[in-house]
Amino acid sequence: MPFIVAIDGPSGTGKGTVTSYLAKKLKLMYLDTGATYRCVTLKLLNEKVSFDDEEKIKEILKNTNIEFNKNKVFLDGEDVTLEIRKDPVNNNVSQVSHILEVRKAMVDLQRKMSEGKDVILEGRDIGTNVFPNANVKIYLDASVDERVKRRLKQNQEKGIKSTEEEVRKNIEFRDNNDKTSTVGPLRQAEDAIYVDTTDLSIKEVEKKLHKIIKSKKRDEKWIERGYITTKNTWMKRLRRKFIKGFLATLYHIFYRVKITGLENLELNEGFIICANHINYLDAAAIVLLNKKFIRFVAKSDLYRIPIISFLGHTFDVIPIKRGKNDLASIKMCLKALKNNEILGIFPEGTRKGLQKNVKVKNGAVFLAAKAKAKIVPVGIGGTFKLFSEVRINYGEPIDIMKYKTDDPDWIDNASQEVMNKIVELTDKK
Ligand code: DC
Repeated sequence: MPFIVAIDGPSGTGKGTVTSYLAKKLKLMYLDTGATYRCVTLKLLNEKVSFDDEEKIKEILKNTNIEFNKNKVFLDGEDVTLEIRKDPVNNNVSQVSHILEVRKAMVDLQRKMSEGKDVILEGRDIGTNVFPNANVKIYLDASVDERVKRRLKQNQEKGIKSTEEEVRKNIEFRDNNDKTSTVGPLRQAEDAIYVDTTDLSIKEVEKKLHKIIKSKKRDEKWIERGYITTKNTWMKRLRRKFIKGFLATLYHIFYRVKITGLENLELNEGFIICANHINYLDAAAIVLLNKKFIRFVAKSDLYRIPIISFLGHTFDVIPIKRGKNDLASIKMCLKALKNNEILGIFPEGTRKGLQKNVKVKNGAVFLAAKAKAKIVPVGIGGTFKLFSEVRINYGEPIDIMKYKTDDPDWIDNASQEVMNKIVELTDKK
């Protein structure tokens, strides 16, 4: 699985320097997406194309070749590394980057260049648009005052004459342009880590980001292991049996367990158990306190914790990446159902989802419909205070196809029906 790091933020935050350092240090391919927009700008200027001439721009884009090689940028085979940093490009690139056709073509190009590679990209819309599923997203920021100071220093070093007022105006203009653009606006992705670099030196930023990415990389390694279902050897079965027996005994010591409806698990085919989720221990109750082998579907982040990862592997828990279209996970679930295995899913998606008013997730019904599998609802009751009563009430299997209608929302509606059934069962004493 490729590892993708997205670094976004306004200009003057040190993105370029930091990203190029991190690429070397972490052995990632470095992609400066701003340079792709700069290349197009240079070509449009060279060919004197009006920025309003959509047809001509489309044609130019079709016949443009942008490549990166050893820290150099090539436009149609020509080295333009220095050229794209000069004023004619500087003064027009923002406008060009907001042309819809240019944007589409550059996003496609950036994705193609990154395909199958471990890569770090810097830009404005990487985490939000180019790679919304990136493994790490960082949003670098700094106050306008600090960015003005940095740009002035940079200009001085390059021998470029500029006043503070000019630089400030330029930065404020570009910020506004980037943030209010209707195409690929600069904005922090919801799951991005915000790093304010105002009071940090470049070295400090590099160190901080290096630490963040390294730890994410380590986590990803653990998580990826979760997607490998090891063979069900007799050793593994024995380990599972032993651990299951041991943990079930503990469960019976610490809780007064009452179970009803176990006969509903006697189906001769793969099916899905759907329960309410009030505590981490309710998944354990379902997995440990019956004779069946039940594979839970759980958020992949849990695989980061070594002990949970060990238990996850023992009980073949299927990881799922939250908020992402996790095809690998869906495939694992469908395969398991086809193999007549039993899956466990919490339609609330999170603990106490119902109380938090979280919309019921439709994954279980989606899988059941795809695999033509039944859903067994389970209501779990109790407070999970030590030595208190825990009630596990299994309901009759539901054939969700009976809810199927022409309404495109039928899966959502059926998911709600399943949830209602679960809630009914939690009240059963
Ligand atoms: O990072 P830079 O200054 O080289 O970027 C040049 C321009 O391209 C800048 O005005 C913002 C724009 N850009 C963009 O819109 N989206 C990106 N992913 C990267 C840059």
